[in-house]
Amino acid sequence: MKSRAAVCLGIDEPWKVEEVEIDAPRSHEVRVQMAYAGMCHSDEHLRTGDISAPVEVLQIFGVDSLFPAVGGHEGAGTVVEVGPDVESLAVGDHVAASFIPACGRCFWCASGRQHLCDLGMSTLAGPMISDGQWRYHLDGQNLNRMTQLGTFSEMMVANEASLVKIDPGVSMRAAALISCGISTGFGSAVDRAKVKPGETVVVIGCGGVGSGAIQGAKLAGARQIIAVDPLPFKVAKAKAIGATHGAASILEANLMLPELTEGRMADAVILTPGVLTGDLVAPALALASKDGRVVTTAIAPFNQDQVSLNLFNFAMFNQSLLGTVFGSVSPRIQIPNLLRLYQAGLLEVDNLVTQEYSLDQVQNGYDDLHAGTNIRGVVKFDS
Ligand SMILES: NC(=O)c1ccc[n+]([C@@H]2O[C@H](COP(=O)([O-])OP(=O)(O)OC[C@H]3O[C@@H](n4cnc5c(N)ncnc54)[C@H](O)[C@@H]3O)[C@@H](O)[C@H]2O)c1
Ligand SMILES: [Zn+2]
Ligand SMILES: [Zn+2]
Repeated sequence: MKSRAAVCLGIDEPWKVEEVEIDAPRSHEVRVQMAYAGMCHSDEHLRTGDISAPVEVLQIFGVDSLFPAVGGHEGAGTVVEVGPDVESLAVGDHVAASFIPACGRCFWCASGRQHLCDLGMSTLAGPMISDGQWRYHLDGQNLNRMTQLGTFSEMMVANEASLVKIDPGVSMRAAALISCGISTGFGSAVDRAKVKPGETVVVIGCGGVGSGAIQGAKLAGARQIIAVDPLPFKVAKAKAIGATHGAASILEANLMLPELTEGRMADAVILTPGVLTGDLVAPALALASKDGRVVTTAIAPFNQDQVSLNLFNFAMFNQSLLGTVFGSVSPRIQIPNLLRLYQAGLLEVDNLVTQEYSLDQVQNGYDDLHAGTNIRGVVKFDS
């Protein structure tokens, strides 16, 4: 079948809507009619080449390049066709996309860590999980999809491992935002930094992911949350959802913390800027107290392998530097859990959507992200 989809043809090429050909779902696959797709910064990492592994690595997955590729990994929609052997979904089910597929059987899934499922290795390449073939084609060429998904498309064929069934009564727009950014930020604070009541938390970068981290810290009982972002509009929004203080830079936060914490500094620091670079790690650790935790949530360019930090202080201050994928919680647990919090009025999602775009406006949405006018943009599909 044919579907309109926002495709990137190569590194630094713009998102452009193309008519793509999608094959029928095969074993363990379903076809989803998309309702909403969120515009996470990670799709920009795809477009700019940050998450392009070297060719030698890509070839292990059967591709020489990630391009051309359908973008989008945040999203929600309705299952409209079910392929053979599908066990967990039926036509009419509402689903949220999960950029980490979960098989449910590997060591990591079996030990309750579906965010680390071995299928995660497949997310940055094109072939389908089930048979290593392509279902998407553009002008006769195989077409890859962002993280086994490609939510910037009217129709999406994906493996059931990449989809999470959600309550049919819940807002698809909220589910789209929760499907990656908000869940990742929330888990970064609650599950990775393990914020406790009374603590002081700094969140560096107040976009979609940072907004999840701020709300996670708040619901975990943080006494003080310092939102750091160079854009005053983002800091103001952060304060509206739970931040107690704002700062325009890490340095400004550093100067505020001694007075706020009786000289001890922050218990937890969450790094959620658009792009992570090695030079942000030492200043983030400098915001943290003795025994403080720093969580690196933002994605760095694939070749970013230099981090400068004072190892003497790091050890003697008993600090922790922690990575996280999807906020270190299983998507099948976190997405429904945060949707319930949203329905209970305890998690702000709706007001984080600064603008809705049509599929044709995906590039405009990312231009707005770079211009600093979006907390989260969403693509609304005509149904
Ligand atoms: N670890 C994961 O599993 C995971 C999942 C989703 C997204 N991410 C990554 O998280 C990061 C944030 O994503 P997003 O969609 O919220 O991005 P975004 O672009 O919406 O927000 C980033 C914010 O950081 C601010 N910023 C940039 N540099 C800063 C600095 N030096 N100090 C303070 N603030 C700064 C920007 O002004 C912006 O408001 C991206 O790198 C994204 O790829 C990681
Ligand atoms: Zn698994
Ligand atoms: Zn994302």
